[in-house]
Amino acid sequence: MSLKIAVMPGDGIGVEIVAEAVKILNHFKNSGRLDIEMTEAPVGGAGYDAAGKPLPDETLALAKSCDAILFGAIGGVQYDRLPRELRPERGLLALRSELELFANLRPAILYPQLAEASSLKAEVVAGLDIMIVRELTGGIYFGEPRGIETDANGERKGFNTMVYKESEIDRISRIAFEIAMKRNKRLCSVDKANVLEVSELWREVVTKTAGDYPEVELSHMYVDNAAMQLVKWPKQFDVIVTKNMFGDILSDAAAMLTGSIGMLPSASLDANSRGMYEPIHGSAPDIAGKGIANPLATILSVAMMLRYSLDHAELADEIESAVGRVLDKGLRTADIMAAGCKQVGTEEMGEAVLAEL
Ligand code: IPM
Ligand code: MG
Repeated sequence: MSLKIAVMPGDGIGVEIVAEAVKILNHFKNSGRLDIEMTEAPVGGAGYDAAGKPLPDETLALAKSCDAILFGAIGGVQYDRLPRELRPERGLLALRSELELFANLRPAILYPQLAEASSLKAEVVAGLDIMIVRELTGGIYFGEPRGIETDANGERKGFNTMVYKESEIDRISRIAFEIAMKRNKRLCSVDKANVLEVSELWREVVTKTAGDYPEVELSHMYVDNAAMQLVKWPKQFDVIVTKNMFGDILSDAAAMLTGSIGMLPSASLDANSRGMYEPIHGSAPDIAGKGIANPLATILSVAMMLRYSLDHAELADEIESAVGRVLDKGLRTADIMAAGCKQVGTEEMGEAVLAEL
């Protein structure tokens, strides 16, 4: 039976970059190496335009029936003044939560060809290879109570709740330990246990789970220090595991270490390795429709999909090495452009990867 893939371009540059990634999937399909069936569906602002909400019922039903989802990006200025529950971001958060995609893997890898693109000194980032494991369906993003209320004096207050159950901490830390086992066997758990009770419990549970992974060297770090260490000497990290919000922030910082957020893929997995794959960058309304966005993060997300959900690691390897060769040839989109290289647009970059396969 064919593997079913839901394709959700979303908004802004999502449309352009997903188109290039789909070409790669079609290439494998047409050459008989991948038996897939792709179905497209609107999400985010596109979902609101099509069906009046950021996660239309049909899109959710499709997502639930698929083996994997290829996701572009969501958001646009035209949606910023909608009520909160209709904003594009809610579509993405609802997908994560409805499908229980609790494990978000965000690798930050520096391609040697791009060492100069980082704003940090080349020696600080050369050879960088970090995996951030971000908890994605809990914490302050989803905790109750939440809201904005007006008190008796007419003053408003806004509030959210950062909450984690032991089972939630245990399952995300197990994923992180498993990944560490396949890498350099070092795991750093990032929390704020000096201030927050929820972090105290986090630290306790991660430490207990570590008992099942005696080969992994576990360390703990406060999130403020982790932010500093990431820009000071990022190569001290192998795998990082952290809560939803800390992971959101640290993964953007880690991305920039590699020169461009336009290069980094991500996977969001459930307990059975069913997953959603998306570039970690956003919809970039400022450059949408111009044909200049970097499609490589989305193309590399397809590689992650092949590896983690579709059991085709050999095709994932092929995509990753094709991307390396394209960079070797000096082709660059605007975001990673450097002296002596040739600047290309979204489509040209996609075609160049295709030509290497
Ligand atoms: C991310 C994004 C999302 C998040 C937004 C778009 C809701 O920043 O995937 O990192 O905060 O999780
Ligand atoms: Mg983010």
